[in-house]
Amino acid sequence: MPRTMIEPFRIKSVEPIRMTTREERERLLAEARLNVFRLRAEDVLLDFLTDSGTGAMSARQWAAIMEGDESYAGARSFYRFEAAVKELTGYPHVIPVHQGRAAERILFSVATKPGQIVPSNTHFDTTRANLEYDGVTALDLVIPEGHQPRTRHLFKGNIDLGRVERLLQEQADLVPFGMITVTNNSGGGQPVSLENLGSYRALLRRFGKPLVIDACRFAENAMFVKLREAGQAGRSVKEIAREMFALADGCTMSAKKDGLVNIGGFIALSDDRWVEAARNLLILTEGFPTYGGLAGRDLEALAVGLEEVVQEDYLRYRLRTAEYMGEKLLAGGVAIVEPTGGHAVYLDARDFLPHLGPEDYPAWSLCNALYLAGGIRGVEIGSVMFGKRLDDGTETYHDMELVRLAFPRRVYTQSHFDYAAEVICELKQKARTVRGVRIEKQSRTLRHFSAEMGWA
Ligand code: F0G
Repeated sequence: MPRTMIEPFRIKSVEPIRMTTREERERLLAEARLNVFRLRAEDVLLDFLTDSGTGAMSARQWAAIMEGDESYAGARSFYRFEAAVKELTGYPHVIPVHQGRAAERILFSVATKPGQIVPSNTHFDTTRANLEYDGVTALDLVIPEGHQPRTRHLFKGNIDLGRVERLLQEQADLVPFGMITVTNNSGGGQPVSLENLGSYRALLRRFGKPLVIDACRFAENAMFVKLREAGQAGRSVKEIAREMFALADGCTMSAKKDGLVNIGGFIALSDDRWVEAARNLLILTEGFPTYGGLAGRDLEALAVGLEEVVQEDYLRYRLRTAEYMGEKLLAGGVAIVEPTGGHAVYLDARDFLPHLGPEDYPAWSLCNALYLAGGIRGVEIGSVMFGKRLDDGTETYHDMELVRLAFPRRVYTQSHFDYAAEVICELKQKARTVRGVRIEKQSRTLRHFSAEMGWA
């Protein structure tokens, strides 16, 4: 059998991408205040900023869009979407929202109180920010290997059960529920095993606490389980995904990832404890419960996306893309989070730029350098995203300085990845020319989106 893994689709519609010169990029980045979030997308050649909402929809999804029922209440499209979510998750209560953070905001508003603590492997930035906005502590308890970029572990997204147990023994009254992110995005897109999920659930149950999955990348996680976990190889990804959901009491979902759509999300729950309050808040801020801030056509595309995303040819190609990119970078002497995760490759900026200190924001600096070198846009997962400026003016820093290159689903081909790897490996050769940055202007929450930076 040929070893080359091909994209399991052919292309029906194309979108041009634009080359720029180094001089143009220097001007554009300066205008963007050295913050790639502030660039115009048309000035980016390969956009690896995020895999969220950036995927290509299939012909079947576009066809489904034409079937959208745009009725305000009780639209056929809602029932089609609801059936797809129920079939996948097994949860009877399904609440559509426009994207993942709306699910988080609504669930946390109805299920937490100020002063409480919600543990997870690693909360994503919006999840953490939404909890903190409600006065809740977002506690990250990933296993120690999850903090070590070069320690290989098959399930680096697992939660540290010993630390969860200690938390529950000491402060169970402050824990409304446990969460877990699959795959663990902020920790490198690393999977969580079924075994870890099951033990976490059992532990929470002992203390009478529900488990909520942040399910954005459930299908990639399920594929890793199939490929890596003992005894799982013979099962279908869909079966594994269903078991993942069965091991929890509900989920928040940004369908912009493994829903294979450009917009959408949902909350799905196994019992009705939070349902009525969540629906009431939904009506107040998102929309009527049969559309939740989405158009009927969005719900149609999502119903099809949830079927397509568990196809194993697709997932094999999907995970291989990150692995292929990782192999090329390692061969070029670039340190990455190993093993590669599902949706992205994470560059270790401290290793890439050893001449920069934490106050130079190495991961942010590397992001800028990638854009200048080849028109590539990644995202910093480091101290601008997760550090803070305290009221007394001192800075806190994150324990890892990573640049995430996240891969839109079904969008780029192998030669795009070959080009990106070449640019990055060449940049590594002249890494000492990369300059650090300073924060000149920032907001109080989620400062990375809008920060204005200057050269150090
Ligand atoms: N949870 C995780 C694990 C995520 O990765 C994201 C979004 C969200 C929740 C929020 O979902 O964007 O639909 O509101 N992650 C994107 C990313 C933004 O680039 O990783 P959203």
